[in-house]
Amino acid sequence: MASPDSATSAGLEPPLAMLAELTHRCPLQCPYCSNPTSLANRDDELDTAQWVDVMRQAAAIGVLQAHLSGGEPTARKDFADIVAGAHAAGIYTNLITSGVLLTRERLEAYRSAGLDHVQISIQDSDPENADRIGNYAGGHARKLTAARAVREAGLPLTINAVVHRQNLDHLPEIIALAHELDAQRLEIANVQYYGWALRNRAALMPTREQVERATEVAAAAAEALAGELAIDYVVPDYHARRPKRCMDGWGNRFFAVTPRGRVLPCHAAETITGMEFSSVLHRPLRWIWENDPAFNRFRGTDWMPEPCRSCEFKNRDLGGCRCQAFALTGDVGATDPVCEFSPHHGLVADTAASGVPVATPDYVYRA
Ligand code: FES
Repeated sequence: MASPDSATSAGLEPPLAMLAELTHRCPLQCPYCSNPTSLANRDDELDTAQWVDVMRQAAAIGVLQAHLSGGEPTARKDFADIVAGAHAAGIYTNLITSGVLLTRERLEAYRSAGLDHVQISIQDSDPENADRIGNYAGGHARKLTAARAVREAGLPLTINAVVHRQNLDHLPEIIALAHELDAQRLEIANVQYYGWALRNRAALMPTREQVERATEVAAAAAEALAGELAIDYVVPDYHARRPKRCMDGWGNRFFAVTPRGRVLPCHAAETITGMEFSSVLHRPLRWIWENDPAFNRFRGTDWMPEPCRSCEFKNRDLGGCRCQAFALTGDVGATDPVCEFSPHHGLVADTAASGVPVATPDYVYRA
């Protein structure tokens, strides 16, 4: 493993984690997909050797964990080779998967290559609704089989449940399912409304009552299951008064690499039109982390407009979410509208307060 010798040569902390989006190909069509609306084709994807080199470069600048994601990363035939490359570089590997392609044989090959952890997404506890959300018949049953195989293989398991209006009332059953599957962790992720999710916002936005109930359910379960199942739950943006510290700060501890090799300060940054991002095909990863204008643009607090600039919370939230600011205001440098001090706060507060439309619209799936 290369040592992270000069990752701080530009006065920066080294990155801790990398999201490696190995492909945009995916058998599911979740209406809240966070990938860009224009997806990379198979022919555009970095090849095996290029990904292995990304892992080596990432380790050299300090990356400790690689989240291997997509799309569906196991759609790549060389997935085990990429895991082996990351493992050889000394990086802890986490497979983020829908689970629908994850057979016992594949899992064994990945484990032999050095895979450390598996995270499986579920769409609901109710099979019918889960399959409708992912638009994949039989998907839920396959996920449960895959989750059990992960534990039988002796690997740690995280269940990730994306929640919204059409499954949030099942949260007690979702928690029970994660516990029954012997997961170590359950991430309850509220839908973030940019990219494809923004198109489906009217079908996905929960009511305030749903959010309040879910918050109570999650808190009670976290206490009751302490030591058995760790539960992560954050109040959804649209029902919050202060923005979250998104990505733990832009360009602070994290970056993502897209299937084409573009390096992003945030996995959703390609939804920000007009921003340019460098590629590992043209620049070393170290140069990008230290010098890329897209990374430097929102580092620290000097870039902030008022009211953020003179706000006592600016070092706590670091300006909130840039993708959300752009999605809602068209200005990537604007105060995150989630903040109650933002002049645009009505854009989220009014949407959240409007509650369930008279008729819940159908999902719009990707073609
Ligand atoms: Fe991109 Fe928040 S999701 S900065």
